[in-house]
Amino acid sequence: MAAKQTLTITDNRTGKSYELPIEDGTIKAMDLRQIASGPGDFGLMTYDPAFMNTAACRSAITFIDGDKGILEYRGYPIEEIADKATFLEVAYLLNEGELPAAAQLERWERDIRFHTYVHTNIIKFLEGFRYDAHPMGMLLGVVGALSTFYPDAKDIHDPENRYIQRVRLLAKLPTIAAFCFRHSRGLPYEFPRNDLDYIGNFVNMTFSIGGKHEPNAVLQRALEILLILHADHEQNCSTSAVRAVGSSGVDPFSAVSAGIAALYGPLHGGANEAVLRMLDEIGDRSRIPAFIEKVKRGEGRLMGFGHRVYKSYDPRAKLIKQVAYDVFEQTGMNPMLEMAIELEQIALKDEYFISRKLYPNVDFYSGLIYQAMGYPTDYFTVLFAIGRLPGWLAQWEEMIKDHEQKIARPRQIYVGPARRQYVPIDGRR
Ligand SMILES: CC(C)(COP(=O)(O)OP(=O)(O)OC[C@H]1O[C@@H](n2cnc3c(N)ncnc32)[C@H](O)[C@@H]1OP(=O)(O)O)[C@@H](O)C(=O)NCCC(=O)NCCS
Repeated sequence: MAAKQTLTITDNRTGKSYELPIEDGTIKAMDLRQIASGPGDFGLMTYDPAFMNTAACRSAITFIDGDKGILEYRGYPIEEIADKATFLEVAYLLNEGELPAAAQLERWERDIRFHTYVHTNIIKFLEGFRYDAHPMGMLLGVVGALSTFYPDAKDIHDPENRYIQRVRLLAKLPTIAAFCFRHSRGLPYEFPRNDLDYIGNFVNMTFSIGGKHEPNAVLQRALEILLILHADHEQNCSTSAVRAVGSSGVDPFSAVSAGIAALYGPLHGGANEAVLRMLDEIGDRSRIPAFIEKVKRGEGRLMGFGHRVYKSYDPRAKLIKQVAYDVFEQTGMNPMLEMAIELEQIALKDEYFISRKLYPNVDFYSGLIYQAMGYPTDYFTVLFAIGRLPGWLAQWEEMIKDHEQKIARPRQIYVGPARRQYVPIDGRR
């Protein structure tokens, strides 16, 4: 006989038993509400800071099995997608659910190309930022401001309208990101060139000087692979931010701007920067053994190692390592890279890291690659944002269409003072 898919809970306060359905390996938190200690009791809630064990949605976009090191977009293994697809194909796959047929891809690319320009007033915003403004601060401000240029984006219940706004975001983010890059360097803004592909146009807008840039196909494909590897990672902090803010019914520009803000935080988008800072701190290959010993004594961490979800290996890290070698072949090795490779080799053989299942994560090499490509450290997270945008948009669209979703609104356990009376100022101490 098949086992019953239920959970029986006995409330020892009342002696009452409850049988709750188990569906997809979960119980519904709202089913616990009926469990009350007596009349007037609100009912049981779950306490889960940081949502460590709470599924907040059903999603058909990305599958991760952290123990086995599996990452799939709409069922396709990341290894195949990163090897064969273009970034815009991946964006289509994540957003529309299937790989595009030739005519669909043609329309998708054409639509995105059509929207790459931004209103010239955007330049006035950028000019208002200080010369040393962090590019992520500029990016989140400008993307948020886009909502004022497209008031029609507020109509989030019309699917055609949502399509246009998603296309606008995908088209304009590289332009804005490149403008932020130019602003930081005091360079004139380079406008989109719609005869180039998505990656080629972005690279041209960042690096072209005097209207000239010699494209390097290996570096451009490497950048494309990195963006694909970052395109979605299910319910991470920034995606949850996009969903939570979007659940209020706000336009997608504002919701994505919240995602950029979440990514700006060092615990999310800043780890590859930390790898470079660590290598700087080590300074020389001869100091690697002493650094490893320090980490093993618990004085600091080996940045770019370990992952909350992936406990065997990060499948993206394997792919990135190959990309790194392709890039370094073009750009040449430097002492920092040599140090990173040696550090990785030592750590992979060391019992401390082996027994704790600490392997290089996606950030171990990505910062070094971006640096070799000529991007400054504080720009790495902007590249992450360009990569993650298709995922944010796909998750936003999925959230809007999901009838089980409402405005996100967690509960709390109140731990403040009990009810008391207002004290006039001369009675306070
Ligand atoms: C990613 C990270 C936060 C995951 O942390 P976590 O799943 O909570 O793992 P824990 O903090 O519970 O660590 C488990 C054990 O491994 C050790 N550990 C984890 N990451 C380590 C690292 N990078 N270097 C050295 N030791 C590490 C912990 O000290 C702990 O050891 P202990 O059991 O002896 O106390 C963590 O591995 C880390 O800080 N890595 C470095 C930062 C980084 O690269 N972040 C980018 C993530 S994409």
